[in-house]
Amino acid sequence: MKKKIYFDNNATTPLDPKVADAMLPYLSAGTELYGNPSSVHTLGQATRKAVEEARAQVAQLIGSSLEEIIFTSCGSESDTTAIKGIAFSAKERKKGNHIITTAIEHDTVLFCCEYLQKQGWDVTFLPVSSSGILDPDSVKKAIRSETILVSVMHANNEIGTIQPIAEIGKICKEREIPFHTDAIQTVGKLPITVNELNVDLLSLSAHKLYGPKGVGALFIRRGTRFHPLFHGHHERNRRAGTENVPAIVGLGVAAELAQKNLGQEAKKVAFLRDRLEKGILEKVPYIRRNGDPRHRIPGTSNFSFEFVEGEGCVVMLDIEGIAVSTGSACASGSTKASHVLRAIGLPANVAQGTVRFSLGQFNTLDEVDKALEIIPRVISKLRSLSPLWSDKMAGLPTTVTPPLSLKK
Ligand SMILES: Cc1ncc(COP(=O)(O)O)c(C=O)c1O
Repeated sequence: MKKKIYFDNNATTPLDPKVADAMLPYLSAGTELYGNPSSVHTLGQATRKAVEEARAQVAQLIGSSLEEIIFTSCGSESDTTAIKGIAFSAKERKKGNHIITTAIEHDTVLFCCEYLQKQGWDVTFLPVSSSGILDPDSVKKAIRSETILVSVMHANNEIGTIQPIAEIGKICKEREIPFHTDAIQTVGKLPITVNELNVDLLSLSAHKLYGPKGVGALFIRRGTRFHPLFHGHHERNRRAGTENVPAIVGLGVAAELAQKNLGQEAKKVAFLRDRLEKGILEKVPYIRRNGDPRHRIPGTSNFSFEFVEGEGCVVMLDIEGIAVSTGSACASGSTKASHVLRAIGLPANVAQGTVRFSLGQFNTLDEVDKALEIIPRVISKLRSLSPLWSDKMAGLPTTVTPPLSLKK
């Protein structure tokens, strides 16, 4: 298969070859690195050492202490452990039943909160601005005496906007309310320290920072009371299950590499993203750039192309060798505009034409320039198939209302 131009790094990043190399000895038959880290013998001690080294690497990346990190099976598990863990602990201690989150969280957080709602918790889903930013004042106003948790994502996976986490954390700290952030799209991309962010819980996932799929971590500040999702003695009684040693080793090395390359990679990726955006804005009429142009993670660019179906665009770009994704989630065959795009106020018909380009550290200038030849051609082709576009070109009224174009 011809090598794709991979612009879908927010969905998952390719594995860094250095990470793969570090994992291999723990996967290969013939090495003596297969012991259960809980075993007392030397084979167990060898894998225990590897797990603890990875814990140190992750802790170092986010500025926590070792004991505050637990390994999980993915970012979704980290988020769910944080939210349900705090909720169940608060319930046991009769602390209250109110949770605050936002309308633009990842599905894993949204669905978890909706589940808790069905179980009797009261959840406030705060709105965001048209550029996708949460006002810390709205958190302050939403807090009640029975609020037991605030959960706000650090950066949004669709539009890339970064939330004022440190400010929100300060508010929560003053009110002694546990504060969780889903930092799955920022760890490895932005410098992060849990103390500066004022967070009590922070989720991360290896496959967003060039590590393997199927492993994540959760920072839980010392003294934070929570119930585990899986019960048993591993991870100091906080997450049962024999550790996925190769994956944890991979996460550790990915964290270490991310820390080494942090500023440099972010600059390079932002440069490529800006070049791509500038080219698209210059070459394609009737489009809207979504998200906040200043407060956002380096690689993410989200565009709504009027008179185009996002799904069609993804398929056509794939045929042309570019992997991207749409901003609209399709639920069981019916195309439903993404909750994030609706939350920032995009009308459904504009949201439907949305495509997310997410660049990463393995992308090159050549790829961006090649994509800039392909994308305008694909959009023109798709528009040429649209009766609405024909009406528009003929000067007839179309049903695309209100006109949201930033540029004509
Ligand atoms: C913001 C955010 N939260 C949570 C997740 C879930 O992470 P995982 O795929 O590791 O379960 C993702 C993955 O897309 C994400 O982008």
